[in-house]
Amino acid sequence: MDITLVCTMFEELPRQGPGVDESTTHACSLIPSDFKPGKTLDIGCGSGMQTLTLAKIFSDSKITALDIHQPFLDDLTMRAKDAGLEGNIVTHQASMDNLPFEMASFDLIWSEGSAFIMGLSLALQYWKKFLKPDRYLVVSDCTWFTDSPSDECRAFFEELCPDMKSESGTEEIISSAGYRAISSFRLPDSGWWDNYYSPLKERMILLKERYKDNDEAQAFIRGLEKEMDIHRKYSKEYGYTFFVLKNLK
Ligand SMILES: C[S@@+](CC[C@H](N)C(=O)[O-])C[C@H]1O[C@@H](n2cnc3c(N)ncnc32)[C@H](O)[C@@H]1O
Repeated sequence: MDITLVCTMFEELPRQGPGVDESTTHACSLIPSDFKPGKTLDIGCGSGMQTLTLAKIFSDSKITALDIHQPFLDDLTMRAKDAGLEGNIVTHQASMDNLPFEMASFDLIWSEGSAFIMGLSLALQYWKKFLKPDRYLVVSDCTWFTDSPSDECRAFFEELCPDMKSESGTEEIISSAGYRAISSFRLPDSGWWDNYYSPLKERMILLKERYKDNDEAQAFIRGLEKEMDIHRKYSKEYGYTFFVLKNLK
């Protein structure tokens, strides 16, 4: 389905993927405390809930918030103004696989729930070029929590996300891409529901009506309902894991 239409469905939500401020803050606390990023890049920022948290924590950092969908960036600009953080954040519309920046120009790269769009392995290899050596990249990605998922859950992800790895499998991808994982932790269940699935469920009532004549959009909405149902049943079998990575030279 057209990417603009997909993104439009996720407008006017607190955020566009699973996440919660406490986890963003916790990930920051796992980076050595003397680290002060001069320049930060938030890739696939959406409307920027995590960008605002980063701007509060790293108040001296110049944060570039990048997304493909301009309405999310406009939303973030408004939120940053409301929070008095507009001086810390610049937005940039571009694709994560064609970054318009100088090589080795960022101290910190952040990606909550967006690396899957390129595939974690490719994303980590490509983004490394824009990160200074010995600096940090934080990524959250969906991982298996069990080696033997239930049949229904396994079948669902085989179709949606066939490359999904366990946490140890993800760590292998990380080291092959030239990083050291210094820490990892799992997103709590509240990170799926409070800012994402619950408001999305409400929005889907409106979307079903708005796109009642669009079969593709209706199928996409049914897919989201199925995804929520799978999460209700099998949240112990998979979820988002945050990885705090150091860029090896
Ligand atoms: C799952 S959402 C995560 C958003 C945000 N990080 C969060 O956690 O709420 C993925 C984001 O990636 C953006 N996106 C999709 N394709 C992209 C691309 N090729 N380049 C940059 N951003 C992209 C979407 O617009 C969306 O905002």
